[in-house]
Amino acid sequence: MTIFNFCAGPAMLPAAVLKRAQAELLNWNGQGTSVMEVSHRGKPFMAVAEKAEADLRTLLNVPSNYKVLFMHGGGRGQFFSVPLNLAKRGNLAQHLVTGQWSDIAVKEAAKYMQSEVVAQSANVGGRVCVPLQSSWDINKQAAYFHYCPNETIEGVEINWVPKTGNVPLVADMSSNILSKKIDVSDYGIIYASAQKNIGPSGLAVVIVREDLIGLERNDTPAIFSYKEQSAAGSMYNTPPTFSWYLAGLVFEWLLDNGGIAPIEAANLVKAQTLYRCIDNSDLYRNQVSNDNRSKMNVVFQLGDGSLDSEFLKQAELSGLQALKGHRAVGGMRASIYNAMPLEGVTALVEFMQEFERTHG
Ligand SMILES: Cc1ncc(COP(=O)(O)O)c(C=O)c1O
Repeated sequence: MTIFNFCAGPAMLPAAVLKRAQAELLNWNGQGTSVMEVSHRGKPFMAVAEKAEADLRTLLNVPSNYKVLFMHGGGRGQFFSVPLNLAKRGNLAQHLVTGQWSDIAVKEAAKYMQSEVVAQSANVGGRVCVPLQSSWDINKQAAYFHYCPNETIEGVEINWVPKTGNVPLVADMSSNILSKKIDVSDYGIIYASAQKNIGPSGLAVVIVREDLIGLERNDTPAIFSYKEQSAAGSMYNTPPTFSWYLAGLVFEWLLDNGGIAPIEAANLVKAQTLYRCIDNSDLYRNQVSNDNRSKMNVVFQLGDGSLDSEFLKQAELSGLQALKGHRAVGGMRASIYNAMPLEGVTALVEFMQEFERTHG
C-alpha cells in the first residue's frame, strides 16, 4: 500500500531526496563517513553550505543586498530573534494576527518591545476572513511589521503583500516558503522553520536585508544575532549540519524540477482538487473565505463531528496518515506541501468520497 503523509510538520520530504540521502549516508562525497561526521569548516562541508545558499538564492531570486542565514531554533527562535535584532529601529512592533502562529509572535515580541496588534482575521458570515489593508493603518514609527502569510493551524493564507512603506515587513513563511513565487524585495526579513518545505526541523532559514543587520540589542545572544551569524557565514557555532545538507538536497530537487513556477502550478492543482471535493460534498466543509484558503494546509470539518475518529481510523487503514486537525481547531487538516504528489491528493479525495457515500 502506498503511504501518503499529510503531517503539518515535520512533514513529508521528497522521496528522491530521502533516497539520495540514504545512498550517501555511509559514504558521503567519497569521504568514507557520513556528512554528519565531518567538520563544518572543512572544504567539503563548506561546499555543501555554499551550494545550498546559492540554490536558495536562485530559487527565490534573492537580491544581492540580502543575506541568507541558516540558524538554530526553528520558527519560534525567530519570534524573539526579530525583536532582539531590530531593537535599535525602535520600541514598537506591529502585527497582523491571522491565526495562532502570528499570535504567538505578538506575545514573544512583547517580552522585548511594545507589541501591538494592528488587525486580525475575523469571522464574516461564518467564514474566516483576513481584513484588507484598506481597513487598518501601520504606524510609520514602528520598528517592523510582522505577519504570517500562511497560518498552518487554521489553513489561512494571504495572497497579497502588506504595503508598509519604510517600516520593514517581516514574514513568517514557515509553511509556504518555496511554494510560490515571491518578490523578496517586498520584505525586510523572511524567515521559515525548515520542517515543511525545506528539510528537517530545528533549522530556520532567514533572509534579511543588509541594512537591518547590526541593529540588535546589546544583550542579544550571539547565536541569534544576525550580525554575528552573517559575519560568520552562519557558523558562529556548529550549525545543524545535517539539516543544512538536507535542505540543500531539497533546493537541488526543486531546481532539477524546474524551480518555483512548476511547483506553484502543481500546488494550485492539488489545492483546487481538494477544495473542489470539499465544496461538492454535503459532509465536509471548510470555513475559510475563498480568498484566504491555504494551498498548503487544507482544513476541513465533517458536518457530524462524531464521525471524526472513524474517518481518521479508516484513512490510516487506507495509507492516508496524519489527517487529524490541530487540537485548537479540531476536524481534519491535510497538509499538502511541495513534496506531496498529486496522487496523494487524488487518493485522499477518492477516500473522502467513498467515506461520504458510506457514512454521509
Ligand atoms: C507558521 C509557523 N510559524 C512558526 C512555527 C514554529 O516553528 P518551530 O516549531 O520550528 O519553532 C510553525 C510550526 O509549525 C509554523 O507553522
